[in-house]
Amino acid sequence: MTADLTEAAIAILRANDRGGYTVPTSSGLYPAQWNWDSCLVALGFATFDEDRAWAEIETLFGGQWPDGMLPHILFHGDDSSYFPNTAIWQAGPGGRTSGITQPPVAATVVRQLFERFGVERSRPHVRALAPKLLAWHRWFYSARDPEGTGLAAIIHPWESGMDNSPVWDAALAAVEPGPSVAHLRKDTGFADAAVRPTSAEYDRYINLVLTFRAAGYRADRLYGIAPFRVADIGFNAILQRANRDLRFLLDVIDDRAGTAEVDRMIARTRAALEGCWDEADGFYYSRDTRTGEVIRKPGIGGLLPLYADPAAAERHPALVARLERWLEQVEVAVPSFEPGRPDFEPRRYWRGPVWLVVNWMILDGLRRAGRRDLAARIRRDSIGVVARSGFREYFDPITGEGLGGTDFSWTAAMVLLLAGLED
Ligand code: GLC
Repeated sequence: MTADLTEAAIAILRANDRGGYTVPTSSGLYPAQWNWDSCLVALGFATFDEDRAWAEIETLFGGQWPDGMLPHILFHGDDSSYFPNTAIWQAGPGGRTSGITQPPVAATVVRQLFERFGVERSRPHVRALAPKLLAWHRWFYSARDPEGTGLAAIIHPWESGMDNSPVWDAALAAVEPGPSVAHLRKDTGFADAAVRPTSAEYDRYINLVLTFRAAGYRADRLYGIAPFRVADIGFNAILQRANRDLRFLLDVIDDRAGTAEVDRMIARTRAALEGCWDEADGFYYSRDTRTGEVIRKPGIGGLLPLYADPAAAERHPALVARLERWLEQVEVAVPSFEPGRPDFEPRRYWRGPVWLVVNWMILDGLRRAGRRDLAARIRRDSIGVVARSGFREYFDPITGEGLGGTDFSWTAAMVLLLAGLED
């Protein structure tokens, strides 16, 4: 069974390979290179094609902006089947990128490649990539945390990677919808509208893009004018894990000034993440930094401090207990929002469905924290649901039904990665 699955996963990555970069799915839903998809896909390539794994990351960094920002989408070819495409974004050098970013998993992935392939073969890649990674992380602390809070703000739900999570509802509702774009959407031609974000959300997503475009995507202006601005706990946990991995990489190339700089980032963010812990609720929450309000909604991002720092599990046993309670309520681990809540929608995108990339993060954190039992459940469920329902974009945690795009690259990559682990 696993051998067949592994072969099928490799075939999907090969089929979605456009030469140096991989589309998230060949189904037409996402005809470009996505930032965190690409990084996580590199972990899948790493299990069978070392050069291709490095190429994925190196192509992505080819789209880095001069100010250090790494865009969430790089458009390489025909983008006419996607909305919003380059004609709307009009962003980046050559007008071939989006104008916002995505969760910074790149440094973590580069470290994983380094550890898999060894110092001799990896050092030249690390030498080339580490300064670029440092520039991106520096950008988070200047452009997205000008007040020095230790948490980088996201200014668009798409930056979280968890587009329509209930965690953004109130902050997004405060954004002007702008003109309706329902008739321009292409996604609903590829996937059932009932499992996608709503048109009310899309109108706001696009209005945010147009606001940033009107400001010339200038990093020094966007933080101040953004009508949506959230310190996302999940995003910052991913950043903190990446900070630690970047520090490791800078050490490999003996960049002393770089390691000292990243040490300061780590210290600031460590304190700030702990500030997001809510002792009464036993959960980590995001904060709306425009209103100052804590967003008391238990989205899966609140579990990601486990991935940032293995000591979090020991410091907050209530968090692991909470995860265990989530898992008691579902067939397939891990739902993207707390089951049983009124906002929980098991089939709608980031409002409940299971995403294997986040499963990998939680599983990785649990293994490092010594909770291999729980990690084993997540691993078993992740591989099992693909065996049953195919390499879909996401899955209903209650029924295990596959949803969204088909033959999905990062789902295939995670199967390859997880199949290679021992419980
Ligand atoms: C959706 C997901 C995002 C992903 C992208 C491409 O927008 O929410 O996380 O990167 O699709 O797969």
